[in-house]
Amino acid sequence: MMDGTKMSSEVHSFVARAATLLSLATVGLAVSSDRAAAQATDAAAGQKVYAQVCLGCHTEAGTGNPGVYPPLDGSEWVNSAPERLLNILIHGLTGPVTVAGEEYTGLMPGWGASLKDAEIAAVATYIRSAWGNFSNAISEAQVAAVRAATKARTTPWTAAELVAATPAEK
Ligand code: HEC
Repeated sequence: MMDGTKMSSEVHSFVARAATLLSLATVGLAVSSDRAAAQATDAAAGQKVYAQVCLGCHTEAGTGNPGVYPPLDGSEWVNSAPERLLNILIHGLTGPVTVAGEEYTGLMPGWGASLKDAEIAAVATYIRSAWGNFSNAISEAQVAAVRAATKARTTPWTAAELVAATPAEK
């Protein structure tokens, strides 16, 4: 026969352990859903900036206009190392540049003077997660760091210069 006191203390410690595991699992869930919510908010704010500032040239579907405005959907520049994309957004880009196998010889002025760090982070996060793109989110601090590191720059990048100055990988 089992001793009643021993059994109830075993039951008690089992219940306590289960409760601890359960609360750890709940904390884990809360943290990951918070993170998802923060990214979703950024992308939603970024979609607004995109609609106001970028959509006219790059189109709602991110396809651009062949030969004139390059695509953002599937672009190796959008899905590159954050420094590379952020330099394009802050300072602009002047062709020739190859995007998804096609060459463009246009000019995009930088948006660094008209958009705040938070807006650039949001629009960068949006274009990296919209359509078929699947790259990580960009923070306001990353934008501030690129701005600070390149504050002497006054002209748009050429693609060749940018490739030499920044890493390619995500
Ligand atoms: C007036 C038209 C215009 C607007 C508005 C515009 N762009 Fe561009 N964008 C261009 C052109 C033209 C190029 C290619 C420049 C070149 O040939 O070097 C370009 C290039 C790019 C590139 C690098 C190439 C690629 O296709 O990935 C990115 C990224 C980009 N734009 C993002 C944006 C974002 C984000 C906005 C809004 C904040 C924006 N652009 C607004 C015209 C525009």
